[in-house]
Amino acid sequence: MTSQADQPLSTRVRLGTRVEHQAAQGSGFLDALADGRLPLAAYADLTAQHYAIYETLEKAAATMADDPAAGAFVAPELTRLPALAADLEFLGGSPTVRPATEAYCARLAEVAFDRPAAFVAHHYTRYLGDLSGGQYLGPAIARAYGLTGEGHRFFVFEGVEPAAFRTRYRLLLDQAGWPAEEQDEFLTEVSEAYRLNIAVLAALKEEWT
Ligand code: HEM
Repeated sequence: MTSQADQPLSTRVRLGTRVEHQAAQGSGFLDALADGRLPLAAYADLTAQHYAIYETLEKAAATMADDPAAGAFVAPELTRLPALAADLEFLGGSPTVRPATEAYCARLAEVAFDRPAAFVAHHYTRYLGDLSGGQYLGPAIARAYGLTGEGHRFFVFEGVEPAAFRTRYRLLLDQAGWPAEEQDEFLTEVSEAYRLNIAVLAALKEEWT
């Protein structure tokens, strides 16, 4: 029998966060946006929260780019901040950063700038999510709100083939060769990242539904 620790890290993280993923996916807010059941301002609100989160995450990525363990995960084509700035500009409104988002950013500031495994945990949770469910969500939101070209750049990764990228990313995880403590730190922090994302989605749901 294979113990969990013998499985590749990419398998451990996927299986180990199934429940968290279900909670993130089932939060209701993203589905409501995908179905066009909320005002466009709710989508602008989500975009504003993303802006704050990626601003911090991508500062951490710049800091980690030369790290021997985390640097391999940093890829310029993932950078979302310019796309989010363009989306916010197009969507307008006066977005506020919600307390749940501030808490998320505070956690990033605490762990993602000097702990490689924790940084990769946050990097994985956002970008692999964006390149998975995000690839369905983006077009659904664009359709629901009649966005053609502008307003949903966040979901469009120029020069990235999502399935191939995910495969390569999993390989990087599996070949990282981290000692057990760092693997555990990664797995624990991915759960924390899910929790922080779920809290942001819950705050948005509370506001808009
Ligand atoms: C409507 C909401 C969502 C849908 C429909 C959705 C759907 C999916 C699907 C179908 C996959 C599997 C892709 C594959 O097997 O290759 C996936 C993977 C993933 N999702 Fe989501 N998702 C949603 C929300 C979220 C949220 C809010 C997060 C966290 C911020 C997230 C994080 C992830 C991650 C990290 C993966 C990669 C798992 C892995 O293969 O290791 N998802 N999602």
